[in-house]
Amino acid sequence: MKPKVYITSKLPEDVADYLRQHCEIEIWDGDRAITGEELAERLTDVEGLMTSGNKVSERLLQSAPKLRAVSNVSVGYNHNDLSAMKARGIIGTHTPYVLDDTVADLALTLMLSAARRVAELDQLVRSGNWQRGLGEQLFGTDVHHAKLGIIGMGRIGEAIAKRAKFGFDMDVAYYNRSRKPATEEKLGVVYQPLDELLAESDFIVLMTPLTPETKHLIGRPQFERMKSSAIFINVSRGDTVDEKALIEALRSKTIRAAGLDVYEQEPVSPDNELLSLDNVVLLPHIGSATHATRNRMAMVAARNLVDALYGREPQYVIPELK
Ligand code: DGY
Repeated sequence: MKPKVYITSKLPEDVADYLRQHCEIEIWDGDRAITGEELAERLTDVEGLMTSGNKVSERLLQSAPKLRAVSNVSVGYNHNDLSAMKARGIIGTHTPYVLDDTVADLALTLMLSAARRVAELDQLVRSGNWQRGLGEQLFGTDVHHAKLGIIGMGRIGEAIAKRAKFGFDMDVAYYNRSRKPATEEKLGVVYQPLDELLAESDFIVLMTPLTPETKHLIGRPQFERMKSSAIFINVSRGDTVDEKALIEALRSKTIRAAGLDVYEQEPVSPDNELLSLDNVVLLPHIGSATHATRNRMAMVAARNLVDALYGREPQYVIPELK
């Protein structure tokens, strides 16, 4: 009998066909995201779960006594309770590599948009308020030849550094838990202690995974170290930043601007103060969301899941669960 699998969001047809060959599948077809309770109700006799961003908690696992594998359609897995999964012997997988360039493109998009005030100027044109001779107050900041500090020099950090260094002639520094001599040599980037990097960079991109050590890595003291002209970009996870401190830094012009793809609470609530600020570009967590990359991620996740359920070592097991 084919193992039963539940999938929390729609899939490309070829991926669904591949899964159907090996599993009995059910896919959430609501026009909004499935809630934790709805998911729990559907997991009672399911052996495999394929999900992007749904919380996999001890509580959820209690409603899924037959669950053997969780396949995340994402590189991040901070929404998985790894100790609860480990205790139950549940295999957890994710989708690294395939999204590196796409997420790096988005980091550059946010840098350029915040620097050149794309959202504000788009709004100016749309609202019919474009007058000849744009006032200096709407001029932007150069990205080329500026100094970029990257916090978190993993694969995506490297892809951002490559674009910045060779595409925009930027001077690139990085901070990481461990130094990366090979990357320094290959890309001509330099390591800096965090406080130095914060104080000297024109652009700061946060690209570190969310772990207990990186929660609120950037808060008030860190914003206060930055230049008042600094532009801060977060494409990692919302909880790596103290969002209240960021709002304060933007409001008080402690820093010049920000570009965000991630938030402490997602989706953001309509009364989040970030929504009322002009000097921040806001995206709805779409780092990997291109057709090609999301399709590739779905196929990698499907293969991971089938391998796990058929007793083969999946290609991308979550490192902490190996
Ligand atoms: C991931 O896959 O974890 C990224 O956040 C996608 O945007």
